[in-house]
Amino acid sequence: MGIRKRLVGSYLLVILITVITLEAILVAGVNYYYHHNMEQILIHQAELSASFYEQYFSDQDLEQQAERLLKGFSHNFAAQAQIIGSSGQLLQDSTGYQIGQNMTGYPDVRKAIAGYAESWQGLDPLAQEEVLAVSYPLLADGQAVGAVRFVTSLTETKETVRQIAVIFISVGLIVIALVAVVGIILSGTITRSITGLKRAAEKMAEGDFTARATAPYEDELGALAETLNTMAVKIQRQDQLKNDFISSVSHELRSPLTSIKGWVVTLKGNLLKGKAPLQEGLDIIESETDRLARLVDELLDFSKFEDGRMVLNRSPLHLTEFLLNIGQLLRPRAVRQGILLEVKAPDTLPIVSADENRLKQVIINLLDNALKFTEPGGVIVLSARPVEKQVIITVVDTGAGIADQELPKLLQKFYKGNHKMSGSGLGLAISEQIIQLHQGQLTIHSELGKGTKVTIYLPRSDLD
Ligand SMILES: Nc1ncnc2c1ncn2[C@@H]1O[C@H](COP(=O)(O)OP(=O)(O)OP(=O)(O)O)[C@@H](O)[C@H]1O
Ligand SMILES: [Mg+2]
Repeated sequence: MGIRKRLVGSYLLVILITVITLEAILVAGVNYYYHHNMEQILIHQAELSASFYEQYFSDQDLEQQAERLLKGFSHNFAAQAQIIGSSGQLLQDSTGYQIGQNMTGYPDVRKAIAGYAESWQGLDPLAQEEVLAVSYPLLADGQAVGAVRFVTSLTETKETVRQIAVIFISVGLIVIALVAVVGIILSGTITRSITGLKRAAEKMAEGDFTARATAPYEDELGALAETLNTMAVKIQRQDQLKNDFISSVSHELRSPLTSIKGWVVTLKGNLLKGKAPLQEGLDIIESETDRLARLVDELLDFSKFEDGRMVLNRSPLHLTEFLLNIGQLLRPRAVRQGILLEVKAPDTLPIVSADENRLKQVIINLLDNALKFTEPGGVIVLSARPVEKQVIITVVDTGAGIADQELPKLLQKFYKGNHKMSGSGLGLAISEQIIQLHQGQLTIHSELGKGTKVTIYLPRSDLD
C-alpha cells in the first residue's frame, strides 16, 4: 500500500474512532441529563405530595379526599398527576380520563401501593407514547393506603435530544471531511517529494550522476534531496579524480618507456654497425627503469593510503643521528650539483616515535625536491629543533621557489610544476600522508625566485 493511502487511512481511522466515541459519549450524556433532570423534578414533586398527604390527610379517607388532594398536587405543575387507591385503581387523574381504571399493569404503581417509591419509563399503552412515571406511596400510620403518580411524556425530550445529536453528528462529519481533505493534501506534498527523490535516485542507480533530486519543501525530505545531490556531486568528482589519476599514471609510465624503447632501437641498429654509444644508452635505460620502479613504488604506496592498508612501524627514533645520516647520503649528489647541503641537528634533539623508513622517505623526498629545483651555487639547509610539545624539521632551499597560486595545489597527487625537473608529482602528496599518519603536519612556504621552506611538525614522544 502506498504512503498516501496509509497516511490518509490512518488519519481517517483515528479521527473516526475519536469522533464516534466522543459523539456517543456526548449524546448519551445529553440524553441522561434530560431524563435525569425530568425524573428529579417528578421525584421531588411526588415526595412533596406524599409528605403533604402524610402530614395533613392521613387520618382521612383517601378516596373521599382524592379530588382535593389532586388539586393540591397538580397545582402549578405541568406533569400529569394521578391518585391511586390501595388496590391499584385510578381515583383521580389531572387529565380527567380513565378514572376507575386498574393501574396495577404499571410496575411503578405495583411497587408504590406496596409501600416503595418507584420510577418507570416505557410506552404508555393508552397514549401510545414514551412516558416517564414516578409513583410514591401515600402513607397513613406507616401503611401504604394508595399512591401518588406523576407522568410526563418523553416525546419532547426525545426530540430535543435528537436535535442536539443531529448537530453533534453534523459537526463530526464536517470534522471528518476536513481531516480527510487535509490528509489528502498533506500526503500529496509528501508523496510528491518522494516521487521526485525516487526518480533522481533511480537515475543515479543507473549511473547518471548529473541527475539532481528536487524536493519542494525545506523539510527532512528536502534535506534528503540535498544529501543525495551532494553524494552525486562527490561521486562525479571521484570519477573525475579517478580518470585524471589513470591518465596521469599512463602518461608517467609512457615517457620512461618511450625513452627506453628509443634507446634500445638506437643501440640495436648501431650495434651492427659497431659504433653504438653503449655506455650512454645503458645509463639512460638504467635511470629510466629506476624512474619506472620508483613510480610503481609510489603508486603502491598510494593504493595503501587509499584503502587504509598503510600502517606505520613505529619505534623510538633518535633524530640527530637519523638526520645526519640522510645528509651523508645526499651530500655526494649536492657536491656534484655544486650545492651546499647543511644539516643542523643538535645533540639535544628529543626522541620521536616514528617509522624510520617512512620518515626517511619523506626527508629524502623533500631534499630531492630542493636539489632538483635549486641552481648550482645554492644552499640547502636541513635542520631540526624542539618547540614545546613538538619537533620541527625544516628543509630550506635558495632555489626556484613556487608561485603563490600554485602553493595550495602542491599537496595534491600528480600536481607538478612545469619546471623541467618536475617528476610525477607524487612526492609531496605521499610525504604529507606519511606525516599525517604520524599525527604531524606538513606545511610549505615559498617565494618565487627566492626559495622554498618545507616544515614538518612531529609530536614529541618523550613528554608523555
Ligand atoms: N623545493 C622546491 N622548490 C621549487 N618547487 C618545488 C619544490 N618542491 C616542490 N616543488 C614543486 O612542487 C611540485 C610537486 O612536488 P612533488 O615532490 O610532489 O612532485 P615532483 O617532485 O615533481 O615529483 P616526484 O617527487 O614524484 O618525483 C614539483 O613538481 C615542483 O613544481
Ligand atoms: Mg618530489
